[in-house]
Amino acid sequence: MFKFGFAESANDTVEEDSEQKDRLEWISAFKLEITTEQIGAKYETDYYTETKVFPGYNLKLIRSDKITQNLTDQNCKIIVEAESKHSDLIPAKYEGGLKIWECTFDLGQYILEKEIELKDKLVMDLGCGAGLIGLLSLRKSSIVHFQDYNAEVLKFVTIPNVILNFDDHMTTLTKCEFYAGDWSSFATLLDESKKYDYIFTSETIYNPNNHKKLYEIFKSKLKPDGAVFVAGKTYYFGVGGGMRQFENLILKDGFFNSELVWRSQDGVNREILKLTRKS
Ligand SMILES: C[S@@+](CC[C@H](N)C(=O)[O-])C[C@H]1O[C@@H](n2cnc3c(N)ncnc32)[C@H](O)[C@@H]1O
Repeated sequence: MFKFGFAESANDTVEEDSEQKDRLEWISAFKLEITTEQIGAKYETDYYTETKVFPGYNLKLIRSDKITQNLTDQNCKIIVEAESKHSDLIPAKYEGGLKIWECTFDLGQYILEKEIELKDKLVMDLGCGAGLIGLLSLRKSSIVHFQDYNAEVLKFVTIPNVILNFDDHMTTLTKCEFYAGDWSSFATLLDESKKYDYIFTSETIYNPNNHKKLYEIFKSKLKPDGAVFVAGKTYYFGVGGGMRQFENLILKDGFFNSELVWRSQDGVNREILKLTRKS
């Protein structure tokens, strides 16, 4: 499993982080166009599993062995290697989108419990991975933009999951857009006037070096009356990021009100933050 090395002192951590920051080459953001092959795709029943992902919501999800097979066939070495070594993350190469992370379930459940009205809303599933939150939003008649660092994840996981869960592929895909690449260039790629009613993001705050990039997307892409929901662990052991650190950035900047709207009662500490613009 990938882990940043624990530093001997606080100074070591800072040096390590800035060194890592300098060395990494992040892929620039780009829009993934849907191919006619993807629109027409038909999946046999042994290609997916059907599970009750959220209360009352069964979703069909492409099987992980099929994903690995497709990635191998396409020679996606880094991701296949990361998967085979059970490595969740390889910074700037593979950012964890193949696995479904537990805070996704918290966020989906929260959306349902609070009956957040999503009909005809423009929603961003930021750092979508398998895209469960986007799928739930589509079921609730939103227009959804999915974003993942790895185009391969979108191509072999997110898009097939969308196709699997809606019979009318064409109509559904006209309500979706898919974006790959780094958050730092993502906001500028989008049409300036395009702002979101809701930005949902789960398990995206683990790397403190990426906090500012993520935050800038919220600032520039949320509608004045929109809301961001950030689901994540209180602290990511071995990686360094965490909710308080991310919250401090928000509070310091002063652009958003930040409210802790949910926290887990047991197990690993998990939370959901809601951000709304200050008036
Ligand atoms: C740990 S995965 C979480 C996936 C999904 N939200 C879940 O909870 O199951 C982190 C997500 O954030 C995205 N991500 C991480 N760092 C990124 C960056 N610098 N730029 C763009 N996307 C990034 C990854 O591609 C991935 O989709």
